[in-house]
Amino acid sequence: MKIKKILSNFKPYFVEDKPVLIRLDANESPYDLPANFKEELIQELSKIEINRYPDAFIRDLRKKISDKEGVSEDSIIFGNGSDEFIYMLYTALEKGAKVAYPEPGFSMYRIVGSIFEMRLFPYYLNKLDYSVDKKNLENVLKEEIDLIFLGNPNNPTGNIFPEEYLEMVLSNKNTIVVSDEAYYSYSKKTFMKYLENYDNLLVMRSFSKVGFASIRLGYMMGNSRLINKLNMIRSPYNINSFTQKIALLYFKHENFFKSKIEEIIYERERLFKFFKNNNIFAIPSESNFITFRIEVPGFYQYLLDRGIRIKDLSHSFNMTNYYRVTVGTELENDSFMESVKDFLSENNI
Ligand SMILES: Cc1ncc(COP(=O)(O)O)c(C=O)c1O
Repeated sequence: MKIKKILSNFKPYFVEDKPVLIRLDANESPYDLPANFKEELIQELSKIEINRYPDAFIRDLRKKISDKEGVSEDSIIFGNGSDEFIYMLYTALEKGAKVAYPEPGFSMYRIVGSIFEMRLFPYYLNKLDYSVDKKNLENVLKEEIDLIFLGNPNNPTGNIFPEEYLEMVLSNKNTIVVSDEAYYSYSKKTFMKYLENYDNLLVMRSFSKVGFASIRLGYMMGNSRLINKLNMIRSPYNINSFTQKIALLYFKHENFFKSKIEEIIYERERLFKFFKNNNIFAIPSESNFITFRIEVPGFYQYLLDRGIRIKDLSHSFNMTNYYRVTVGTELENDSFMESVKDFLSENNI
């Protein structure tokens, strides 16, 4: 079989699937849709003609996002999760193109990049506080990079990409620059305003982190010529009819979802204070998760045994003793903090 050689010894994206009560590992929102919205949803979904393909042009959603973001309809592309844009971008690039991404950063940049046989140039974050290291970034940019991802905010560190470095990254017009803003609703910081002057910038957003992870929807905005190239690659009906309808519900009740986002931000700060008060190193976060360090072994399993799943960063990122916790509901966060305290006291810390 002519299967790619790289797949014979491959470490794919890791998904922990042990069932637990408290899931704080995947940066989802802890809030399901309220019952009355679900009723409304069922009404809307019952209007779908199941035998028909979805709207290939995603018209209603496109119009909504174009109005909201103040960009033309032809400068928006939709993906089956923002993940799909990573595949589209790599498909569009010549084999062996040079791709840069933060390390640690979202693992799919690297995983998909290696499948597509890209030349990978991680820019390592500062080892002490995990901020972007200007020297490392400059060194990588000297390589005439074809595509660079900016974590804005970055996963798993939760911090934003410093705006003062942006023009340096954008200055090479041949470099496609992706501002990955999957967590934008929590940071409220965006590089959208640079779209006007830079044709090489793309701004990527996701519905997954604001309560809609199940529908798999992302959108990306940029210069219409570049977006058009990516649209040639996109499979024609990639956004199914259910997803298109459900996403419209988000906009209809946007104020409700925004209030949930504010609750999560409040809880994030409460968690951060907890880490600080207990002398646990944690990276200040502008997203819906916090990465922290506990040096005593056995912490991940201890939480799992109590029905709490977080993300152990030692596997994916070589960050031994680091963990990422998604901000949950007040009750979930209380259980998490209680368990951390118990773990520390059982280990005499
Ligand atoms: C930084 C970042 N970008 C993109 C994604 C992909 O999100 P989705 O495919 O669910 O839209 C994630 C998911 O965790 C992420 O953390």
